[in-house]
Amino acid sequence: MSRDFTIVVNGEPRTTNTDEDRPLLDVLREDFALTGTKYGCGEGDCGACTVLVDGIPTRSCLTSMGECDGESVQTIEGVASGEALHPVQQAFLEHRAMQCGYCIPGHIMTAVAFVKEHPDASREEIIAAMSDHICRCCNYQNILAAVEQSVARRG
Ligand code: FES
Repeated sequence: MSRDFTIVVNGEPRTTNTDEDRPLLDVLREDFALTGTKYGCGEGDCGACTVLVDGIPTRSCLTSMGECDGESVQTIEGVASGEALHPVQQAFLEHRAMQCGYCIPGHIMTAVAFVKEHPDASREEIIAAMSDHICRCCNYQNILAAVEQSVARRG
């Protein structure tokens, strides 16, 4: 049975009438037209659908609306400040961390949360934090370099 669900998306309360089992990913993309969050595997393995729910990297393909009702959700569309890229986005750009780019929003969301929580992270800690994201172009070295630069710049 459907009902209203309200989540705060990128700082704005958004309401949709839907089923509680429907994935957050579908609501973001189809109801709110926030298509920066990508569908990859639909099984929690690839990380393409990662958003921040109350600041925590979360697989939106596996998160139901019933689980996130009332929560604060940040998507890739909410990372930049107006025209100014977030420092993590800037680092991804400088290091050419994207090839096809499909997986990059998910990588960036995890990196944004990680850098904020671990400003002194080691290379090994960065690798561990990013290890559950898949890049089918295998651009892992450049992605790692971008996150390392983000840590070095504290942002
Ligand atoms: Fe959610 Fe792959 S689409 S982890």
